Amino acid sequence: MDNNKIKCEGGMAIVIFGVTGDLTSRKLLPALYENARAGRLPDDFYIIGFARRDWSDEKMRQQLLDSVQDYARNQPVDLKVAEKLLSKAIYIQSTFEDVEGYRALAHKVEGIGIKNLLFYLATPPDAYVEIIKSIGAADIQHCEQGWRRIIVEKPFGSDLATAQKLDAELHKVFEEDQIYRMDHYLGKETVQNLLAFRFGNGIFEPLWNRNYIDHVEITVAENFGVGSRAGFYEDAGVVRDVFQNHLLQLLTLTAMEAPSAFNARAVRDEKVKVLNSLCPMSAEEALSRTYRAQYGAGDVNGEKVPSYRDEPGIAKDSVTETLMAAKLFVNNWRWAGVPFYLRSGKRLQKRLTPIVIQFTQVPLSLFGAKNLAGDAPNLLIFDIQPDEGITLYLGAKAPGPIHQIESVQMRFNYRKPLVGSRLKPMSVYYWIPSWAMPPSSPAPMRLRKPGALRIGSSLPGRRRAYKSCPSILPAPGVRAA
Ligand code: BG6
Repeated sequence: MDNNKIKCEGGMAIVIFGVTGDLTSRKLLPALYENARAGRLPDDFYIIGFARRDWSDEKMRQQLLDSVQDYARNQPVDLKVAEKLLSKAIYIQSTFEDVEGYRALAHKVEGIGIKNLLFYLATPPDAYVEIIKSIGAADIQHCEQGWRRIIVEKPFGSDLATAQKLDAELHKVFEEDQIYRMDHYLGKETVQNLLAFRFGNGIFEPLWNRNYIDHVEITVAENFGVGSRAGFYEDAGVVRDVFQNHLLQLLTLTAMEAPSAFNARAVRDEKVKVLNSLCPMSAEEALSRTYRAQYGAGDVNGEKVPSYRDEPGIAKDSVTETLMAAKLFVNNWRWAGVPFYLRSGKRLQKRLTPIVIQFTQVPLSLFGAKNLAGDAPNLLIFDIQPDEGITLYLGAKAPGPIHQIESVQMRFNYRKPLVGSRLKPMSVYYWIPSWAMPPSSPAPMRLRKPGALRIGSSLPGRRRAYKSCPSILPAPGVRAA
């Protein structure tokens, strides 16, 4: 129990559009449960599910309880807390365009006497505009007492024009201060800690620039496939699913200047400056500095897993990419010339989200050339997940002859390291070209010859399917055996 209980006069309900979907079960319900467990939710807190399926309150409560049990971070789940949370869960069955469904929602809210409503769009993006319009048509975006707010999940449009159109539709119904554009990475403790680490400590700031940082690696690696989200993922691919949101958010937090104040506008403004400084790529550079691929079949923990194209709902000739790597440059005074290697993929060897800052080498090796070449580089690694913490790698003299330098670690853990969940090796890997890896990274040394690894036919452009490649994603910065 912490002291951060949300004060909300008049009680509050979160209205989840798409309550039957994957986002609700994997992310929203576990997050609500963790908040309930920590005693943060207001006393009068309701979950109102809104979706098309023929469910009852009871059915929804059972499903949501299963989600909490499957995905809550803290296990075993405290059933008393979960059941109390779900005892106030209500289901409304309606299509997203039927205004009557929204009137039924308003009626329910009035009945239970709740004043504050948070609408959460946890649906596929093609339903957003319909829902926003229907909220407006039922006129439930205003209230005399309390507030109405809306959370829009990414992807926010699929290009500039569609993003602007979505924004315009939102503004026809809601005021700007009612709208939250959501990237759930920003809710992670370890992501928030990037700001605390950078701007709450004086000692790293003098080093945080092109003079002392050799390169930065940011990786979002997942060991699972597309699951039941074929419809969404076929359109989004890794670029829209993870790259342009989660990875770029991590990049901005790593590269931004200190904001003038710690508030949403000031932080956002500094992030935008980073994005504006990203070195644009010509069409040719986009081919040579980005890399995309799609996963093939293999096995995970001894179980056979299908290729992306054989996943349910995926087209047999799909060219959607499930992995992307890019080498980016932030062209400003702080970062000019420092490569940022960004990578994300599904069905990789491990679930791992590290940000690795590799500092420059000493100018001259006193302890043998080996050490200068990166035997023990100074690394600062932010482990966003699953092992949450920060590690600083330093070179230190190994016991014995003076020329032996070993890498030693200073580590801060958010929680106890995860135990008991070691993954067996899996054989669905990608091959990544060496240019997409920092020069000192050990990973390319682990690669087999790419020629031997390719399966499937060539896909348009640089998209190709690969199978059975060794991992590109060891814990970054960790030396090859
Ligand atoms: C979501 C993507 O936004 O983020 C998913 O749609 C991805 O495909 C997920 O798996 C990753 O989030 P997390 O918090 O598990 O790293």
